[in-house]
This record gives sequence, structure tokens and C-alpha cells, in this order.
Amino acid sequence: CREIAPLTLEINRLKQEKNAVILAHSYVEPEIIYGVGDFVGDSYYLSDRAREADADMIVFSGVVFMAETAKILSPDAQVLVPDRGSGCTLADSITGEDVRRLKTLYPDAAVVCYINSTAEVKAESDVCVTSSNVYDIVAKLPERRILFVPDRLMADNIRTELRERGIDKEIVSSDGTCVVHEEFTPDQIREAKELWPGLAVVAHPECTSEVADLADFVGSTGAMMNYVRTSSAPYYLMLTECGLVGRLAVEDPEKNFIGGCRLCPYMKLNSLEKIRDALADPRPEQEITLPEDLRLRAKHCIDRMFELAP
Ligand code: 13P
Ligand code: SF4
Repeated sequence: CREIAPLTLEINRLKQEKNAVILAHSYVEPEIIYGVGDFVGDSYYLSDRAREADADMIVFSGVVFMAETAKILSPDAQVLVPDRGSGCTLADSITGEDVRRLKTLYPDAAVVCYINSTAEVKAESDVCVTSSNVYDIVAKLPERRILFVPDRLMADNIRTELRERGIDKEIVSSDGTCVVHEEFTPDQIREAKELWPGLAVVAHPECTSEVADLADFVGSTGAMMNYVRTSSAPYYLMLTECGLVGRLAVEDPEKNFIGGCRLCPYMKLNSLEKIRDALADPRPEQEITLPEDLRLRAKHCIDRMFELAP
């Protein structure tokens, strides 16, 4: 506590001095979320906050693709990431060139990119989605064939969801996976359900379809939080990053979480020290810069998401 308190105070003072806001994803450490974050939530909520932000500086405590999205939406602000190494196995699985190649194979497909993608990939896409709106947006598109990048497992979950809704679409995808969510297994769920009667299993749509099929609820980080807040199961198994479980446990100490979550090594690169350094005297690699033509091409698919999102 002795180390955290002065840093927290310094960051909050620097925020005022620089007219800065800190956007923090729910997966980062609690001292960031509760001590210095101005807005905390899932990718969709934070993108929305970024486009509304009236700030000279945005420090994005999350991963690089999220900060890139903030820069696309808020080009006049200086957008900073605490650690440039905070990648994402999904975003890093595919390049703009790869998408161009796929488009030649499926010229009639609508190109839908998950927000966990680079600006270059967004620039090649027709519409962007997040885990909070992916099913509704894909369902609304007029095209029958969808090229969905970069999450192969989420593509499987889209197929299942659309089938259940009675919607006939062909979903083709690239081969990316999330290093955190791909690891959860159906056996883990079966064993936990035997040990903990009444257990509610809550999963992110980046999990495999076998896991999603066995879960009681599947949704974005924001939707998972709402589900837990409003349900009354005796125990919860959260098949997602541990930061989310930490937030829920702080909010309601009466709820029982049985463990089983996993850490995202990239989200965990965020720290108060790095946020303070970015605010006080940013190093060149902490600043997100994008060529204007690329930014505008990438913005198009995010604007379309805001139009189509429920
Ligand atoms: P959300 O869109 O649910 O915040 O998820 C982002 C993410 O990276 C999940 O692993
Ligand atoms: Fe990327 Fe997975 Fe980490 Fe989310 S949890 S940022 S999808 S690697």
C-alpha cells in the first residue's frame, strides 16, 4: 500500500495537469481499475468512451489494438499505451495482406473483423464487431457468406448461434485463437459441475464451441459481469481472464468463485509505474501513431459497428 498510494496520487495529479483520461480494460490489475481508471469496461464500452473523450491525452491500459482503436476514433488526442509489448495473440495472428488474400478467395463475402485486430486488418474490413455485438451484427448483414477474422473459435460460436436463431449463413474464418480462452476445456466444466452443485459456468465467446455449449452463459466481459451481478448461483466458474473475477469479487464479496480463470500475459504488462511514465514523459514507443489514410480506412468499419450495434 505504501508504494501504491503515492503513485496513485501522482497519476491522478498528472491526469488533471495534462487533461488526460485513463481507459482501463476489466482485465488489468485492480490498483489501475480502482485507483486511476476513469472508464473501466469491455472493448465496446471503451471504444465508445474513446470516441466521446474530450481529452488531450488518452492512456489506454489494456492492449495495443485497443489503444489503436482509440486513436482511430479520437485522432486529435495523444494516445499512449503503458507497454508497447502488450499485444494479443488474436490481433497478431493476421496481417492486412493476409486479409487481402482471403478476400480474393471469397469475393462475395462481407468481411467482418473482431475488434481484436490491427488497424491494417480493420482497414480491409467492411464491419468491425466486439464480443458484445458480434451475433446481432452478423445476423443483420445482407450477405450470406461472411469472412470473419481473426478468431477461429469465435467463428465456430457464431455458426452455432446463427443456427439456433434459424439464420442461414456461411462463416469462413482465419486461424487465430486467444491464448487465454482456447485453454479452457469441457472436462474442466464437467469436473467442476460434479464438485460444486448448482455451479454456474460463465464463458467468453473466444472459448471453444465445446466449452460454450456446456456453459450456462456466454458473453462479452461486460455481459459476463452483468450475468453474475443479477444471478444467484451458489458458485461460479468464470472461463475468462482472472482480472474480471477480481472485479466481481471486490463488488460482491458474498459471491463464490471457484478459481479456474487464467491470466493474459499481455494485459498483465500494464502497471501503475508505466502509466505514470507515459503520462509524465512518454517514450516514443508508447505513443500510437497511424498514417491518416490508414486511420480513415480503418475507421469506416468501426463507424459501421456503431451504426449496427444494438
Ligand atoms: P471484451 O470485448 O469482452 O472486452 O473482450 C476483449 C478481450 O480481449 C477478451 O479476451
Ligand atoms: Fe488477446 Fe486473449 Fe489477452 Fe484478450 S485475453 S487481450 S484476446 S490474448
